[in-house]
Amino acid sequence: MIEQAAAALRAGRLVAFPTETVYGLGADALDEDAVRRIFAAKGRPADNPLIVHIGDVSDLDALVTHVTPLARRLAARHWPGPLTLVLEAAPAVPAVTRGGLATVAVRMPDHPVALELLRTADIPVAAPSANRSGRPSPTTAAHVRADLGDAVAVVVDGGPCGLGVESTVVDARGEVPVVLREGMITREQLGLADDGTPEPDGLAGSPGLRYRHYAPTCRVEIAAPGTATSTARRLADDGSRVGIVSLEAAPEGVTGIARVTGAESLAAHLYAALRAAEAAGVDVLVIEAVEEHGVGRAVMDRVRRAAGNGWAETDTGT
Ligand code: TXA
Ligand code: MG
Repeated sequence: MIEQAAAALRAGRLVAFPTETVYGLGADALDEDAVRRIFAAKGRPADNPLIVHIGDVSDLDALVTHVTPLARRLAARHWPGPLTLVLEAAPAVPAVTRGGLATVAVRMPDHPVALELLRTADIPVAAPSANRSGRPSPTTAAHVRADLGDAVAVVVDGGPCGLGVESTVVDARGEVPVVLREGMITREQLGLADDGTPEPDGLAGSPGLRYRHYAPTCRVEIAAPGTATSTARRLADDGSRVGIVSLEAAPEGVTGIARVTGAESLAAHLYAALRAAEAAGVDVLVIEAVEEHGVGRAVMDRVRRAAGNGWAETDTGT
């Protein structure tokens, strides 16, 4: 299976594969036509750059003009792992992979199947999350098939992804990391302040955040910690079909979609829960908020996007 998938990648075809965060839709990062197929399959806007996945830390050198001391340090500490480093791109990286930017985003995933595939193919692999643009990211092979079907040559099934929310994207060109997208590596792990309030510093630097994301076909309602049960009951009493993702068991008359124990657990279950709520045919999914610290920052960012807060219906995401 890995041999076949690696051969498909080398032949310029699309291969979906598991990572520790979500499934990726991969293609040869240095082959323009192959990368264009990713954008076409996802319906992704061309100005939204891709993350290039590598199987060894030393593969970074050929993709960028200069590995800064900060990037060296972060890679040594967090790779393989859910941290993506943005650096000045080497000329070998096609503009289509970079979404036209002068920089390229690179990460080494911490998943045995992903690493084996990358090392067998022995090429850098551009891979966004393997969902249709705007849909929740896929955390199982079945999610990938539901969204992309025949557009993918091979889907490598590695079971459910362990972390469930995407990598942290960091601009590593300077002396301190600048967070471009919140993710599974926390600000604290990067040596940055985590004051518990979402702050949009640097967010203009990550093109993907301009677009609507993670949108299920049902409505999503965010409940403050401890209020999910009462919120769900009230909505059910008003006549809606209600699903719930919460710490407590679902109350009478409400469909239990996922039971979570905190931020890490919500991260692991969130995207599958959004899809399960659609499948259960609920009108509204109540999600119990977690505190905006550590992984909770990234998770609540995704929950708010799923709820469509501040996003026009016509926007399309990654
Ligand atoms: O965990 C992950 O990061 C997953 C797995 C598959 O590795 N990938 C993923 O890719 O989430 P995607 O394409 O869904 O999100 C990549 C994000 C987008 O917000 C994109 O705009 C940003 O990274 N990005 C990519 N290249 C960039 C660059 N050169 N500068 C700034 N942001 C960049
Ligand atoms: Mg995505």
